[in-house]
Amino acid sequence: MGTLLARVAVVALAAAAAAVVVDGQMSPAFYDATCPALQSVVRRGMAQAVQKEARMGASILRLFFHDCFVNGCDASVLLDDTANFTGEKNAGPNANSLRGYEVIDAIKAQVEASCKATVSCADIVALAARDAVSLLGGPSWTVQLGRRDGRSASQNAANTNLPPPDARLADLLTRFSDKGLDARALTALSGAHTVGWARCTTFRTHIYNDTGNAAVDAAFATQIRAKACPSAGGDGNLAPLELRAPAAFDNGYFQDLVARRVLLRSDQELYGSGVGDGSTDALVRAYAANATLFAVDFAAAMVRMGNLALTGKNGEVRLNCRRVN
Ligand code: HEM
Repeated sequence: MGTLLARVAVVALAAAAAAVVVDGQMSPAFYDATCPALQSVVRRGMAQAVQKEARMGASILRLFFHDCFVNGCDASVLLDDTANFTGEKNAGPNANSLRGYEVIDAIKAQVEASCKATVSCADIVALAARDAVSLLGGPSWTVQLGRRDGRSASQNAANTNLPPPDARLADLLTRFSDKGLDARALTALSGAHTVGWARCTTFRTHIYNDTGNAAVDAAFATQIRAKACPSAGGDGNLAPLELRAPAAFDNGYFQDLVARRVLLRSDQELYGSGVGDGSTDALVRAYAANATLFAVDFAAAMVRMGNLALTGKNGEVRLNCRRVN
């Protein structure tokens, strides 16, 4: 009996060890010994930020995407421009749009107070994005840790790697497959647009001009034009990416795609564009009908996107997320 129990324990230990190794370097237990309070500190910081402003959950989720798609999830997006350093904050997709830098600063300060020079900004963003989704009512997942912070940034890569709001399906598929993310990951991750807001300038052409396979539901277009987006002016006016519940992480976005009631052309491209093999259309229908399937696939895709990381001895652990050490 004792031998059997011992054998079961060994098997369980071996399974646990195998489960925590990703890319040979990352592990959910990475800071267990060096910063045991990390996950609760990040969670508390995010809970406060989301309670103050629900949109901040969406903003932090987007911050993670914009970090990971430019040279990996290395917190390069957090680096400030200086007289002799050009960061990513003023790249087209980020300028006057990306938000949440102060929230990450505040969490990093809390983490530094208990675990000095130990936890990377990149890992803080990865944990904060996970917490953002669950605080808004979405799924949760185990975050692999051990990312290192980049010592450089690339405004050019931010401009070229991040998809524009009028991107067509083939372009979206290519940009995601360039990062090792397939049509399923693209479709699931786009479901992030179930939360958050967009500026009129990003969706004006779609709600005024798109026709045929990219047409918008007429009543929806009339409503958004009148409420948030005149044909000229009001570029910065905001509208919720998902009209009914912009602060609830649910599968409403996919139902809106089927009904052609979304703001961004890039989103509508996933459903009914009439090009490609129809795989994104089938996924949109499946996620619209099954919230659990969406939640599971979204969590898995976030882990995959989060694994685009600098690890080992590359980069550094930044002391201040806004500048290299
Ligand atoms: C597939 C290609 C994508 C395109 C073309 C795209 C484009 C955009 C645009 C244009 C906005 C509005 C920005 C503004 O007006 O300031 C936006 C907002 C947002 N995006 Fe995406 N996005 C994409 C994928 C993603 C992914 C993969 C995520 C996360 C996993 C994400 C998360 C968000 C969130 C949460 C917001 C709202 C942010 C806020 O309210 O502050 N997006 N996106």
